[in-house]
Amino acid sequence: MDAFEIEGGARLAGEIRVNGSKNAALPLMAASLLTDQPLTLADVPDLSDIRNMRHLLDELGVEINQPQPGQLTLQTTDTSESHARYDIVKTMRASVCVLGPLLAARGRARVSLPGGCAIGQRPIDLHLHGLEALGARFQLEQGDVIGHVPGGRLVGNRIFLGGSFGSTVLGTANIISAATLARGTTIVESAACEPEIVDLANLLNRMGARISGAGSPRITIEGVDQLGGASHRVIPDRIEAGTLMVAAAITRSELTITNCPLDALMAATNRLEAIGVVVEPADDALSMRSKVRISAGESLSPCDITTQPHPGFPTDLQAQFMALLAVADGHSVITEKIFPERFLHVAELSRMGARLFRQGPTTIVSGVGRLVGAPVMASDLRASAGLVLAALAARGTSRILRVYHLDRGYERLEERLAAVGARIKRIGLDEHESPQPKVVVRKGIAPAYQP
Ligand code: UD1
Repeated sequence: MDAFEIEGGARLAGEIRVNGSKNAALPLMAASLLTDQPLTLADVPDLSDIRNMRHLLDELGVEINQPQPGQLTLQTTDTSESHARYDIVKTMRASVCVLGPLLAARGRARVSLPGGCAIGQRPIDLHLHGLEALGARFQLEQGDVIGHVPGGRLVGNRIFLGGSFGSTVLGTANIISAATLARGTTIVESAACEPEIVDLANLLNRMGARISGAGSPRITIEGVDQLGGASHRVIPDRIEAGTLMVAAAITRSELTITNCPLDALMAATNRLEAIGVVVEPADDALSMRSKVRISAGESLSPCDITTQPHPGFPTDLQAQFMALLAVADGHSVITEKIFPERFLHVAELSRMGARLFRQGPTTIVSGVGRLVGAPVMASDLRASAGLVLAALAARGTSRILRVYHLDRGYERLEERLAAVGARIKRIGLDEHESPQPKVVVRKGIAPAYQP
């Protein structure tokens, strides 16, 4: 099992590019189920979640090729299988985004229920409610949701998708994908406004769908009889961009970030500026592919953060900002309003000397100036990123165990951070994660220990 070893305190300098968005790419790939024509996607990151989605779509009859790095062509060639098996769904909750496309295109779907995960309970009731409103019918068997469409074709409807924690991103993706092939018009109220939904609507419209309003809480979809092929470039990953911004800030460095979706990061840059970090776009217009210079001095101010649906502060950056505020000059309050249990990183950051007091969905962060290196355990994707950032700034050496969580969402993060000056390397540990690692030399990385 791989780990990262990080010697903290190195300043970062230079330029780093943001990769294509994982969370955008997953539903875009699932859209290939809606047509028998080829889809070509560019800027698809090479991540374990993407490989899992490829595997799942392959089982569902989609032929996938990679003509060059970052580019995928996907074409449905066999529609006989409609079962997303537990073996795959349990490795990646986002597998649920095949549900809407399968029902719309094949009139049937069997998708294993994703269950909970490290960041809390993850229900799909809103997905099912929306698809039922379009005419699908569901039953539960052996932990699988089995859906069918009486009459074979979904029918447009008006759907309210809000829940106790706001809307649902993948639920909105499922409903708008399904509604593209429904008979009649669908209006989704309280739709998720995330940029990944806009990206999906853009691809679907290129395929011949008629969707308007994506990016706002009301999305209208006029159903069409069939969809065709299309080419599309995936938007850059706003969470990776935000993580890199914090990397510059926490190490008091200056870093230039390219292919940066600044337009989708206003809540995060607003908080960075409150902390005293300078965010300078190279051009005046905010864009989804900006070049941005991030710089921070020695003094970082505390601030309060509340996670909210987009355009509010993203829950997927909460752990990274907690690491940053842990070294600020004063007290900050972080409130989690999307996944109230998403605080597994609190205990691990505390092992590095962070002063954190959690009560329910709120954590008070008392800045300590400098963290200290320690062995810590990654628990989920974004928590792992928070620990890496903390380690970059800590005094001494840290070891981040179980970085397979991180590999789900950040492509070769250690190599890319090392290229801008971080002292970070990947090491292989034996299955008991003993403190004395076996030496495993990976491409381009020096061994951490002599055998
Ligand atoms: C997506 C992102 C994830 C991000 C999350 C919130 C992907 C692959 N993942 O996950 O990285 O953290 O958005 O921005 O895009 N809920 C319900 N019922 C449902 C569905 C959701 O109550 O049927 C609740 C959830 O428990 C949560 C909130 O709604 O409290 C938001 O979840 P949702 O937007 O659905 O998250 P995902 O789309 O799964």
